[in-house]
Amino acid sequence: MSKLRFFTGIQASGTLTLGNYLGAIYPILKIQDECEIIIIMIADLHSLTVPKPNFNYRKNCYEIASLLYACGLKEEKCKIFIQSEIKEHTELAWLLSPYITVGELGRMIQYKEKKKSEETGNLALLSYPVLMVADIFLYDADLVVVGQDQQQHLELAKNIAKNFNNFCGKELLKLPTFDIPKFGAKIMDLKDPTKKMSKSGNDYISLLDEPEKIVKKIKGALTDSEEKIYYDPAKRPGISNLITIYALLNDQKKEEAERELQNSNHYQFKLKLIDLLNKKLSVIQKSYSDYFFRIQEIVEKNNKHLKILAEKKMFLIKKELKLK
Ligand code: AMP
Ligand code: TRP
Repeated sequence: MSKLRFFTGIQASGTLTLGNYLGAIYPILKIQDECEIIIIMIADLHSLTVPKPNFNYRKNCYEIASLLYACGLKEEKCKIFIQSEIKEHTELAWLLSPYITVGELGRMIQYKEKKKSEETGNLALLSYPVLMVADIFLYDADLVVVGQDQQQHLELAKNIAKNFNNFCGKELLKLPTFDIPKFGAKIMDLKDPTKKMSKSGNDYISLLDEPEKIVKKIKGALTDSEEKIYYDPAKRPGISNLITIYALLNDQKKEEAERELQNSNHYQFKLKLIDLLNKKLSVIQKSYSDYFFRIQEIVEKNNKHLKILAEKKMFLIKKELKLK
């Protein structure tokens, strides 16, 4: 058995969308058996960058952790933990801060976009990628998976690691393999398929949506006037997005899905998709309730497990910096 140590982070803000499921969770399910351990961090500290009054971060962490297990991640293999419970994350972020310039951080697309939309240039929004870099290096992961929108932050991680390792004269920060899932990595908004499906948008599918909501949302999804079903994301973003969703849920290549759907019209295709989605979601939702009941206990155990790894790594780093 291979000894792959996998790491990823997911923000604690609202529920999980179909985009999270197909873009981020699905690829993990696919490789779970090849990994020795799958570490999933619920990034509650990252979610604080845009403060939300009255938002219950902890409850949200438990909901997300339960949903992740309900999607099929195995408890023995997959350690889901809460970022703010392990103080080494913020500590390492501080220790790495001298190895990146404010100019570089200011060029991050996500920072520029959020700064515009939130009308704030707060310090946490700017320094967010440094915390992400700390997350990445704290567990000596072999494989780190992120969504397409996080690509620039990975480049930053490489730069910081290079600068830091140069300073130390050894490879203290181990560069993992970074992976960005390709097909299906980006699920688009149902009403505006030129935009990514996101929980901050109005038209996303939540993994906890009831069947009636799914019917309404899929029936209302924007398509076009050409009846035939085929994949062409540039000219036909709406129908192509639905094909992507359908193919992934069915474990098919998009060409296979196209072939299967070639004699269907939009209406028939949407009914098939509704049926498929509701079947998948009902399995997830049933398992979610079971997990939610005992998630606190599971996560606390995971936090303890990972805290030991994080402390070990921090000790080595602090020793190198003569802080020990
Ligand atoms: P977020 O919900 O933005 O914290 O993202 C968590 C993970 O899900 C990241 O790896 C994202 O890239 C991925 N993700 C979020 N929305 C989508 C989407 N619409 N399509 C594909 N992946 C997504
Ligand atoms: N920033 C990531 C996102 O918004 C979440 C995240 C935080 C992450 N730390 C990470 C992902 C470390 C991978 C590795 O999706």
